[in-house]
Amino acid sequence: MQVIILENPQQVAQHASEWIVELLSKKAHPVLGLATGSTPISLYQKLVQRHQQDQTDFSHVTSFNLDEYHNIEADNKQSYRMFMKQNLFDKINIDQTNTHLPTCNLIQDPRVQGMAYEDKIRNAGGIDLQILGIGGNGHIGFNEPSSSLSSRTRLKTLTKQTLQDNSRLFDSAEYQPSMAMTMGIATILDAKYVLLMATGKNKAKAVNEMINGPLSARCPASALQLHQHAVIVLDKDAASELSNQEYYIWANREHQKINQDYGFFL
Ligand code: PGA
Repeated sequence: MQVIILENPQQVAQHASEWIVELLSKKAHPVLGLATGSTPISLYQKLVQRHQQDQTDFSHVTSFNLDEYHNIEADNKQSYRMFMKQNLFDKINIDQTNTHLPTCNLIQDPRVQGMAYEDKIRNAGGIDLQILGIGGNGHIGFNEPSSSLSSRTRLKTLTKQTLQDNSRLFDSAEYQPSMAMTMGIATILDAKYVLLMATGKNKAKAVNEMINGPLSARCPASALQLHQHAVIVLDKDAASELSNQEYYIWANREHQKINQDYGFFL
């Protein structure tokens, strides 16, 4: 794991945006894995800025989102499709027919719909860079604690903690879905690179378990210990429970020259 500790959430977003911009410039048909939630909003703002100010081109990008609520219309303001449109897709020149979310309707077996999403990712050539957040309970995507480490895209029931964490986004009278379709942990591990962003003290415990804890379904993010190219970008607060911060800061400084000379990607 490459653990990068930065001063504040803005620097985390800036760093993540640099990875994406490099990928876009290097690959003829980049495939991005995208995430929703509060953390990536500032990353998407940076990408919009790059598009407006530096003409960063997204026309050749295909994207796959991590998750989507069960049985929700795309134009529902709570859908993750809507989140992506408002925060990113409508503000850049991506072809929205190439943007995918793991939707799940009531008409077809959800297991069939999950496998179809896996096929779509595979047919696109796999995900080059998967952006991730982390839940306070260590989830990635909606892979809640106890998720199989070899899970694939499927329907998951959300935990009380996740429902509580996300309730801030729903009006009191609004229906909050308790199930979601999510890429599995094995789906995430298949991405060529993963970049997890975490900011704030409320993530510090989960971040420490992900990096230093045992590989365990109790902390689904700990599965990233198995990934060959996992990049964890943290602000100081999210890194605050890590015992070996000095080493990460030093190692990152050593690596900067290599990144400058050769870029982030192999
Ligand atoms: P957050 O969610 O960015 O809203 O904190 C992260 C996650 O649950 O993956």
